[in-house]
Amino acid sequence: MTLTPKRAQESLIQMTELVLPNDTNVYTNLMGGRLMYWMDIAAALASMKHCAAPTVTASVDNISFENPIRLGNAVHIEAKVSRAFNSSMEVHLKVWGEDPVQQYRYKSNEAFMTFVALDPNGNPRPVPPIIAETEEEKSLYEGALRRRQLRLILGGKMKPQDAEELKALFV
Ligand SMILES: CC(C)(COP(=O)(O)OP(=O)(O)OC[C@H]1O[C@@H](n2cnc3c(N)ncnc32)[C@H](O)[C@@H]1OP(=O)(O)O)[C@@H](O)C(=O)NCCC(=O)NCCS
Repeated sequence: MTLTPKRAQESLIQMTELVLPNDTNVYTNLMGGRLMYWMDIAAALASMKHCAAPTVTASVDNISFENPIRLGNAVHIEAKVSRAFNSSMEVHLKVWGEDPVQQYRYKSNEAFMTFVALDPNGNPRPVPPIIAETEEEKSLYEGALRRRQLRLILGGKMKPQDAEELKALFV
């Protein structure tokens, strides 16, 4: 049964946090673990908004921290579902820091996380397909199949020889 598709934009979550002393490392920059915690929450909310069901984090792709976020700065996180498969959804995240006194924003990182919708018995349940509208949404949607195959191979859930879209990149 295919559920009614939903627009990617409808899943958008925008979260803002203030970096306080308890969030920082010894260099008074935001700790990576605290940022990943906030990102996990923003992405979970985006996935739940898309499928209208409880979801769990299935995997987190690699995250590179491009710039440290300073104590007293704001953290802005945007999370949006980039593609939905059967019971799983890939969520794209963008993170910026903002100096509220000097009033400038700087990029922190981008990441992909995968969430799975569960039924009341804790079993995976189907989710609605995504409608990608903007150029960025279409590009993320296109790449999602390859990223899914790569993360399933790394997670030991897929044989490399079965990853047709991924293999097509190299031949
Ligand atoms: C995620 C979870 C529900 C998957 O359960 P499972 O028994 O492997 O179920 P399935 O094999 O039927 O896979 C269900 C979906 O999860 C996806 N999936 C499973 N492992 C994955 C991984 N490592 N990365 C990405 N997606 C994954 C599958 O591709 C499948 O997606 P699809 O339905 O869209 O095709 C299960 O592993 C789980 O509950 N994990 C713990 C989640 C959790 O507690 N997260 C919080 C962090 S501790």
